[in-house]
Amino acid sequence: ENIRWDIIVDYLPFFLKGALVTIGMSLAGVLFGLALGLLIGIGKMSPIAIARLPFIWYVNFFRGTPLFVQILLIHFGLMPIFMTPVNPIASGVVALSLNSAAYIAEIFRAGIKSIDKGQAEAAHSLGMNKLQVMWYVVLPQAFKRMVPPLGNEFIVLLKDSSLAAVIAAPELLYWGRAAQGEYYRVWEPYLTVALIYLILTLTLTYLLNYLERRLDTE
Ligand code: ARG
Repeated sequence: ENIRWDIIVDYLPFFLKGALVTIGMSLAGVLFGLALGLLIGIGKMSPIAIARLPFIWYVNFFRGTPLFVQILLIHFGLMPIFMTPVNPIASGVVALSLNSAAYIAEIFRAGIKSIDKGQAEAAHSLGMNKLQVMWYVVLPQAFKRMVPPLGNEFIVLLKDSSLAAVIAAPELLYWGRAAQGEYYRVWEPYLTVALIYLILTLTLTYLLNYLERRLDTE
């Protein structure tokens, strides 16, 4: 059987528009996820055991249940409380942000724990207080170690944002499904969509490698 190029040509503008929505949703997801993830990471490191509990359970829930289920819960359960009609792109961003915050909280915690105790001790002996030790000595080193796993998180979100196709967020896979529905053809839409995801993730990998090399002065 022949490839029907006309389907690809017909849908290319929609695939490109969808790719922009995909990039926007995942970028917003890591950025909000980063802000929330830092707070949750800090909460999980509280010296008071019961104060850690809500943060521990936040991470348990979002890492321990499928993102797919979270998207459905958020779109049909949580979002209607705040807006009607619910914008599926907004639901997608909220789900990706809340989900990635759980993973980023652990990336943050691991980053801080990975800095040798001697660093803080040395800074302390130079007369810095706890906050200064954290801000000037531990965090700058920890953030550098967080860059590779954060980049990885971005790539995961870029691919997993495709799950928002089921709530009709008009991202890349949504348009692939639309093309399949219109033409009853499988290979043309989905291979094209797969290729566009691949171009996006490879470009991102390249950019992240560049950033890591720039930051790699240790
Ligand atoms: N695919 C896994 C799931 O459906 C992971 C989702 C998100 N992963 C992440 N690093 N944010 O639950």
